[in-house]
Amino acid sequence: MEQLMTKLKASAEAIRARIGDQPVEIGIVLGSGLGELGDEIDDAVVIPYRTIPHFPISTVPGHKGQFVFGKLQGRRVACMQGRFHFYEGYGMDQVVYPIQTMKMLGINNLLLTNAAGCVNTGWKPGDLMLIKDQIKLIPDSPLRGPNPDELGERFFDMSNAYDKHLRAYARQCAEKLGIPLHEGVYQLFTGPNFETPAEVRVARLLGADAVGMSTVPEAIAASHMQMRTLGISCLTNMAAGILDQPLNHQEVLETGERVKKSFQLLVKEIVHGWPM
Ligand code: HPA
Repeated sequence: MEQLMTKLKASAEAIRARIGDQPVEIGIVLGSGLGELGDEIDDAVVIPYRTIPHFPISTVPGHKGQFVFGKLQGRRVACMQGRFHFYEGYGMDQVVYPIQTMKMLGINNLLLTNAAGCVNTGWKPGDLMLIKDQIKLIPDSPLRGPNPDELGERFFDMSNAYDKHLRAYARQCAEKLGIPLHEGVYQLFTGPNFETPAEVRVARLLGADAVGMSTVPEAIAASHMQMRTLGISCLTNMAAGILDQPLNHQEVLETGERVKKSFQLLVKEIVHGWPM
């Protein structure tokens, strides 16, 4: 663990050398369809992950892999344009390394976004969902192994992983903008395959409203470090088997494109008045 903390400190120091001493208020992970928000940041300092010591290396072609530090809606933010996924071959510890780096930079507020498959048959592609809770049945954890005591406790609470007060605040923001916002449970699957129809039925039986391949490890690491976390999914497609048609990544991209305006508006509104 000594080693993890040494690495995190080196990563954070390298970032501080670029961005200066100003406090950063909110960390934002931009999921599929939201990446462009990173281009709207004022006084931007762009730091490619590959230039940060000890950072995992991005593998997905066409995916940006960089931090954008600066101001969004007047708030000091750290935006991740591109995240690390388990299906790319990273360990879950590597997937959450950037979140732990944010904490080392003093960031205590986190907004996670993603694209997800819609399991709830009452909803439709293009809808947005505030994450209320999550399910991970994959027998792995980003905190498996020796506990980094400096970051958090060995056994930690997940009953408010997606902060109740922040969720109430996010619902207010959506209402103000007239953007419909569901609230539901997100279940992690490893990918890279989309789920089978049978797996989607199981997810629904378990209480999931959406399925996806990210976010859950990051929310676990955030809880470990007692970061106040909010999560929003863009439901880009009905999950497998609900409609009589095969899934494809194209549909995910197209829906993401179609709703990105309102998704971006909502995120900006949330960031603007984020209660500290
Ligand atoms: N399943 C998993 N991940 C996803 C999906 C899906 O249907 N859509 C977008 N990301």
